[in-house]
Amino acid sequence: MKKMKSRIARICLALCLAAMMAGCAGTEKKEEKTGIKIGVAIYRGDDAFISSLCASLENAIKDKEEKLGKKVVVNIADAKNSQSSQNDQVDDFIRKGYDAICVNMVDRTVAAVIVDKAKEAGIPIIFFNREPVEEDMAIWNQTYYVGTDAREAGELEGQIVADAWKSQESRIDKNGDGKLQYVMLEGEQVHQDSLIRTEYSVKTILKEGIVTEKLASGTGNWMRSPAYELMQEWIGQYGSQIEVVLSNNDEMAMGAIEALVENGMSGGNGPIVVGIDGTEDGLEKIIKGEMEGTVMNDARGQAESILGIACACAEGKDPKQEVPELKGQYVRVPHSPVTADNVQEFIDYKNK
Ligand code: BGC
Ligand code: CA
Repeated sequence: MKKMKSRIARICLALCLAAMMAGCAGTEKKEEKTGIKIGVAIYRGDDAFISSLCASLENAIKDKEEKLGKKVVVNIADAKNSQSSQNDQVDDFIRKGYDAICVNMVDRTVAAVIVDKAKEAGIPIIFFNREPVEEDMAIWNQTYYVGTDAREAGELEGQIVADAWKSQESRIDKNGDGKLQYVMLEGEQVHQDSLIRTEYSVKTILKEGIVTEKLASGTGNWMRSPAYELMQEWIGQYGSQIEVVLSNNDEMAMGAIEALVENGMSGGNGPIVVGIDGTEDGLEKIIKGEMEGTVMNDARGQAESILGIACACAEGKDPKQEVPELKGQYVRVPHSPVTADNVQEFIDYKNK
């Protein structure tokens, strides 16, 4: 009898435990269904453009939650420029069963490792800003890329310079030789945007019938302080011969302007400066007359596309329905030229 009682007690205990566990699993499932979890891995958090893109992502969450009627959690991991840290961060997102993973590769040539892992786990992957090679994009059809057309950015930047030259040649052509003497600040050499922006900005100026002469070029790796150093060096070497500073992005243009200001060569006294991105600092310099123009690299538009694709995939919907700009696996958000004439429009857009 005693034995029987303890057996019954044991069975009861086992049943209770099973019921409790089932209960837990039940609520866990429910939680998964009522919310979306997205992992975002960025190459380095101290990159001005990437950090503005992250801010735009965070801003876009609220609207998305209202639209979907569910919670959207976005977890951002900074790889601090280490590909192996980034691989670990992606592993962690996969282990935690995130619904979609967005990756801004440190080294865009090694995306296959990440695509393979995501494919195996069945978690859709959205690359952005640092474009994987086509072969890696082709591994799995639930791989997407959100970025821009680098050629368009270069062409628009070149057009700003050509227009400025044509309307104010006597001011810009300091030595009056009819040629445009320039220096070029380039982004990271491994980044798809650098070479193409460089090439097409100059090609566009030439196409407009302007004769150019390159005095110097060098890479500032997208960053302000190496660009400042380069500009100091070039000012030392070429001084007032520099008529135009072409920069692959606004951050490096900021470094160049800092050096120009220190040497009493900013604004009307020195070369015109043009950049790409339309960062807050860039737009402010246009207002102040220290920068001729920039090309809007629409961080907000890119963030909205990234979030749109991620949430659609997480919900098992066709991302093309949610993000009509998606063509095949790619979204390329258009650029716009920005000068003193229309800068306010872009400040308003950013603050909206
Ligand atoms: C932006 C740069 C940025 C880089 C980061 C480029 O598209 O123009 O400002 O540093 O992406 O990958
Ligand atoms: Ca000249």
